[in-house]
Amino acid sequence: MKIFLTGPDGLLGSNVARELISAGHSVKAFLLPGISAPTLEGLDLEKAEGDLLDENFNLARAMAGCDAVIHCAAITDLWADPKLTWKVNLEGTRRILDGSLAAKIKRLIFVGSASSYQPGTLEKPGNETGGFPAVYHGEAYMESKYQASELARKYVRERGLDAVIVTPTFMIGPYDSRPSGGEMVRQFLEKGMRVSTRGGRNFAYVRDVAGAMVNALDRGKTGESYILGGENLSYLEFFGRIAKIAGRKAPNILLPDPLVLLAGSASSLVQRITGKKMVFNRRIARYSLLSTFYSSAKAEKELGLKHSPIDLALEESIGALRKYGHLNLDQTGFFKDKAVLITGGSRGVGFATARELSLRGAKVVISARGAKRLLDSRDRLERMGAEVAAVAGDVGKWEDAEKMVNAALEKFGRLDILINNAGVSMRGNFSELAPEVIEQVSRTNLIGCLYPTRAAINHIIKNQGHIVFISSIAGLFGLPGASVYCATKKALTGLAESMRLELIPKGVHIGVVYLGFTEHDPEKRIIAADNQLVPPDRPAHHTQAFAADLIVGMLQKRTRQLIMTPIGTLGWLIYRLSPAMVEKAILWAQSSQWAVFKRFS
Ligand SMILES: NC(=O)c1ccc[n+]([C@@H]2O[C@H](COP(=O)([O-])OP(=O)(O)OC[C@H]3O[C@@H](n4cnc5c(N)ncnc54)[C@H](OP(=O)(O)O)[C@@H]3O)[C@@H](O)[C@H]2O)c1
Repeated sequence: MKIFLTGPDGLLGSNVARELISAGHSVKAFLLPGISAPTLEGLDLEKAEGDLLDENFNLARAMAGCDAVIHCAAITDLWADPKLTWKVNLEGTRRILDGSLAAKIKRLIFVGSASSYQPGTLEKPGNETGGFPAVYHGEAYMESKYQASELARKYVRERGLDAVIVTPTFMIGPYDSRPSGGEMVRQFLEKGMRVSTRGGRNFAYVRDVAGAMVNALDRGKTGESYILGGENLSYLEFFGRIAKIAGRKAPNILLPDPLVLLAGSASSLVQRITGKKMVFNRRIARYSLLSTFYSSAKAEKELGLKHSPIDLALEESIGALRKYGHLNLDQTGFFKDKAVLITGGSRGVGFATARELSLRGAKVVISARGAKRLLDSRDRLERMGAEVAAVAGDVGKWEDAEKMVNAALEKFGRLDILINNAGVSMRGNFSELAPEVIEQVSRTNLIGCLYPTRAAINHIIKNQGHIVFISSIAGLFGLPGASVYCATKKALTGLAESMRLELIPKGVHIGVVYLGFTEHDPEKRIIAADNQLVPPDRPAHHTQAFAADLIVGMLQKRTRQLIMTPIGTLGWLIYRLSPAMVEKAILWAQSSQWAVFKRFS
């Protein structure tokens, strides 16, 4: 089919255009004259220039030869001039309906808004049968969309137009260039909010919405409406999800409603006095307390609406914010265009570091042995807009270490930073250790740092770059049950000290981070004395994002060493004065299961 698509460059339109093309349809994209439309770059589509509000423009002629129309164009900005919103959303729609009749269009998909229906609760979400919510009376966007939907229905009833009405909820996802749904994501990431209001809403992945709209071309029933949504989430949950995805602190304070309303009123007052548009005002404060939950059961059944995880949408939204220049998380520009190799970057601290560095503008290579997890992690980073390469290999093998370094050179033409992070932990008294445990831990934790460092060193010297070793509190003093692990981590200190002396004159920064027990991914395993892989047995005290922040800070300040925990620093200081005292304390803490012992390793 050939589809006349209005608003093709917006968040929804640009995703619909892609879904149409990949389903084998051809697209005639209706755009305002002279607009640049970066979201349509690289797409094979025909363009037609015109203005919906231009009465002299012959829409029917522009639609000639098309089988269907998808009308996405609208003013969605709640802060826009209400007169313009009404004009574009209602009068513009009337012109599209008339044009479609005149051009004998076989099917029209009109995009309304789920806000036209009464929302519900989590247990009983709203559906297509509820009337227009009283709370939105007088709100130009919501009311104009509602009336435009009613108009489309009238054309179906009275003039024989074959139209289907789709009403998306709050959409998030890729190609959000202005940004629309991504604005909430941007605000959270840039402002780092720790508070939230009580409300919530339905969040939809824009690609799922677009897919259902393409299906509606032949599966939608004439005159019917379909809510196209995703997950019902409170704002606290929603911001918590973004925080988890991007490695930020989640909001943990729910603001009391009166305080939210008071802040909204104060903001509106400032707006009235200064004339300056305030993003937060009394009206928005009121909406932020509402829970607008919807069900898309009808669209799932009749249009095959998919329900992808909203996390996917959030990752792609972050990617879009970065792609179109709306998110700058590193004002210093320190990492911009630097190439970083992170061994063991497929999960845990390595992945968190790769994510943080790429969010700050670095290009990253991640490596690990397990290819599936590695590629999943690469895809996650890519969705968040990272320039990333992934190399499967074992840091304890010279050829693989060379491959990792070469990947950075081939993909980015340089290597500035090496983070030796890959490592395995072990548990068991030395007298009981299987020889394979000794071999595996030494090879990964020591040889696995020596080989990548040797393979990378001349490239790092060339750029006066950085080499960081990820050690442990166990690299500061010995711990029972972790002898080989401690030995390898302590060896890194000796390696770093020697290399520092060789490389200071060449301007290379060498750093060692002594991590405390950090949050681990569910699939993390350590090696038991009999060489079996077992889950870690110590509680975590710090997040991976916190560890990543430390590493980032170390790079920026070219710090030589960092001890993660105050207890570790204290232990290290006392150990230098009296090793016997620390030994006694550790043995006593271990035998009495004193919690502090668990903080060491
Ligand atoms: N988490 C903590 O509490 C803690 C505390 C102190 C120090 N550290 C140190 O911090 C670093 C990261 O720890 P983590 O908790 O994030 O570990 P993790 O979740 O187990 O991740 C380790 C990473 O290293 C990779 N890896 C392991 N052996 C490898 C090998 N031979 N070749 C290539 N890649 C290999 C793993 O992927 P594959 O298995 O697929 O290869 C994975 O990507 C380690 O050096 C660890 O010793 C951690």
